[in-house]
Amino acid sequence: MRTAECTRLEVERMKVAIITSSDSGYAGAREDLSGKVIEDIVREYGYEVSEKILLPDERERLSEAMRRIADEGSAQLILTTGGTGFSPRDCMPEATMDVVERIVPGIPEAMRAYSMQLTKRAMLSRAAAGIRRSTLIINLPGSPKAVRECLEYIIPELSHGLEILTGQASDCARSYKK
Ligand code: MTE
Repeated sequence: MRTAECTRLEVERMKVAIITSSDSGYAGAREDLSGKVIEDIVREYGYEVSEKILLPDERERLSEAMRRIADEGSAQLILTTGGTGFSPRDCMPEATMDVVERIVPGIPEAMRAYSMQLTKRAMLSRAAAGIRRSTLIINLPGSPKAVRECLEYIIPELSHGLEILTGQASDCARSYKK
């Protein structure tokens, strides 16, 4: 466990659903390594994985899965991987925007700004993020390396946002640390 004990306890009851968008993974031609990276990192930070879903790059099926999880409230956080690039089949940001009620541009902006220091190809990620009901949805890129870089950068700040979203915290100033 790498975070401070207090952060771990704050997020202990938060559930994460992981959705991988990959035609080849869905066909069984490629192992879902990125989904596994997400699972390992969120567990390390004290989250519980409620479900892991592997779907083809199909907008309707991806948005349907996100809508179901948010509407039944079975996870407070949905992390997706894959489908954020320029391939004709990449449609994760579109599927996400189909279901969110409020957009959260700062998270993908932060991931891209940080990732640009590592690879200028980070500018090619079209990742989006937003909120449906009490669930935060965040797109991560597709490769295990990119997933690790992006998720490890943003995850320490997510617990505070999720606590506000789920009504467990209301005072930003009190807990603010630089
Ligand atoms: N972000 C980080 N941190 N590290 C990376 O290696 N790869 C980029 C980008 N973001 C990368 C990254 C590349 S090469 C692409 S094409 C886009 O993410 C989109 O990836 P996806 O289509 O696999 O979702």
